[in-house]
Amino acid sequence: MEAEKKPKFPVKEFVADIKEDILHDRLTLPTLPDVALEALLVVNDADSSADDVARIVAKDAAIAARLVRYANCPIFHGSDPVTSVSRAITRIGFDSVKQAIYLVSMRDVFKTGIAIIKKRMDRLWQHSVVVASKAAMLAEQFPQLEKDTALLAGLIHDVGVIPVLLKAKDYEVLYTNEKNLDKVVSGLHMAVGKILLAHWKFEPVLMEVVALHDHLDREPPSDEVDYVDLVQVANILSYTKSSHPYSGLDRTKVAAFQRLGIEELMVPGGEAKLMQQSRDLGSKIF
Ligand SMILES: [Fe+2]
Ligand SMILES: [Fe+2]
Repeated sequence: MEAEKKPKFPVKEFVADIKEDILHDRLTLPTLPDVALEALLVVNDADSSADDVARIVAKDAAIAARLVRYANCPIFHGSDPVTSVSRAITRIGFDSVKQAIYLVSMRDVFKTGIAIIKKRMDRLWQHSVVVASKAAMLAEQFPQLEKDTALLAGLIHDVGVIPVLLKAKDYEVLYTNEKNLDKVVSGLHMAVGKILLAHWKFEPVLMEVVALHDHLDREPPSDEVDYVDLVQVANILSYTKSSHPYSGLDRTKVAAFQRLGIEELMVPGGEAKLMQQSRDLGSKIF
């Protein structure tokens, strides 16, 4: 009897298809929650106040609760607890509230009603939280970097995976084969993520993180450690003792590790303290 032929992996077709979608502006992109979009409009309006933003955020109980939780996180803000959204915004500071809104909206972006990609989306969210917490802890050691920007950078670094998964759901041979899906995701997610962030009007510094975080041999624009370095290191560390290829990397040969220059992170196991601190941070915020 002739062996049943496995369906051919249509990588070229898939990539061409997604490129066409991008070209014609019809790639399905995840949306930010309505309340976040409305709040961001108000934040960008020069005449608005913290109270105006608070009134909008309060319309979404889950987002409001997350914002208060974030404002109460000691590493970012004070230790004196706040309970209302408007006090939370005052605590975060009006200048940083935009980033905070993006941050507390992301949980919704990583949720899906599509059963076949749900597992992967959940895993992606967990990974993003781990990278975000590590990047924020690492940022503490570099005065030129903001912890809250590092946190958001880590949280969104792989957000470009989402449109690729949404597209893959139409290709049974992709979503039923983890390895095939990994291949197309890793090849496309940075470029797609950059498009998504431009659509959401994110700052260029965050777009850079999304577009470059897996380019370990990139040419950094200056000698100073930047958010791409932080996220590259946090991302690699997140795969410690896993089956991911990053797990076996010689960290002393990775430019981002060299640039950070934190000796203990260069050796396997040296990240134990950072792991614990970032786990604590992640559980307080997310
Ligand atoms: Fe990535
Ligand atoms: Fe990642």
